[in-house]
Amino acid sequence: MLKHGGNLGEMVHRLGLPEADWLDLSTGINPHGWEFPTPPPQCWYRLPDRQDGLAEAAAAYYGTEAVLPVPGSQAALAMLPWLRGHARVGVTAPGYAEHGAAWSRAGHDVIPLSASQLAGGAGTAFDVLVVINPNNPDGTYFEPQTLLEWRTAVASRGGWMIVDEAFVDTTPAYSLAPYCPLPGLIVLRSVGKFFGLAGMRIGFALGPDNLLQRLEEALGPWSVNGPARWVARQALADTGWQARMRTRLPAEAEHLHALLARHFDQRIVGTPLFRTVLTPRAAEVHEALAREAILVRLLDRQDGLRFGLPPDEAGLARLDAALRRISTPEPSRA
Ligand SMILES: Cc1ncc(COP(=O)(O)O)c(C=O)c1O
Repeated sequence: MLKHGGNLGEMVHRLGLPEADWLDLSTGINPHGWEFPTPPPQCWYRLPDRQDGLAEAAAAYYGTEAVLPVPGSQAALAMLPWLRGHARVGVTAPGYAEHGAAWSRAGHDVIPLSASQLAGGAGTAFDVLVVINPNNPDGTYFEPQTLLEWRTAVASRGGWMIVDEAFVDTTPAYSLAPYCPLPGLIVLRSVGKFFGLAGMRIGFALGPDNLLQRLEEALGPWSVNGPARWVARQALADTGWQARMRTRLPAEAEHLHALLARHFDQRIVGTPLFRTVLTPRAAEVHEALAREAILVRLLDRQDGLRFGLPPDEAGLARLDAALRRISTPEPSRA
């Protein structure tokens, strides 16, 4: 299994600091998750029902009826490689590493593509192109028009372009969702990040009907549980909360950005749900923060740190104070 943020249990175990003391900034999950009422008992007792209104709520939210609920966008991205014959697959890297791993596991040839290679148009040469928009962890955004051009090129040869939009909800103008269905275009959406409902394990795949049907068959019946369907339906329909979050999260990310800029000389990148600093001191700062019970995400290449949004002012102040102590260590008494 690949390493990701959110592995708080492991750190609690390793460092022996009580779980309640930790400030977990290791994911890009909204710390002000959508607060839901308790799902009615029949959600637990009956099998999930496709006619429960979730499809309509999702169609309204994503701007297309070409939508399939899946048990997390992770489940969809892991299954898609099994629905195609051998392919040359261009995958955004560094990015969410599960994409490349899933295509390799299914026996395809995976070629990592940097954001600048992608921007140069290198992706259109592949049978399958996987773009993460905006990218995690570097926050690169690609314009929808550019992506649509790449889709035309890839689909004209029977290829697929998968666009992972797990972090797009705060900037919906960048989403290709309203263009779905288009031949060869598959858009993956997460409910975990923007809505903060990561543990519920529900997401959506958007795409041509025949492809969604094959994905649905591969995942099997009832792959999304009833309570998750019920909660997601309400959250997707809560346009007032969504509008508030689209103002609140970018503002909080700006505060986090300003804080980080006080402690790091390097360029800071990201999205309204996280900020990333590329620094040669990443591993050392990660460990020093962990010793203060602050968990951040050390990038796989150990060349940077990703910070999720602190939940409140106290969290920001705690991060600020910890980073100040780390950059100006107490003089040695030796
Ligand atoms: C870019 C990206 N895509 C997809 C996922 C999977 O999210 P989920 O399965 O919760 O929808 C993640 C999780 O961290 C992610 O960072």
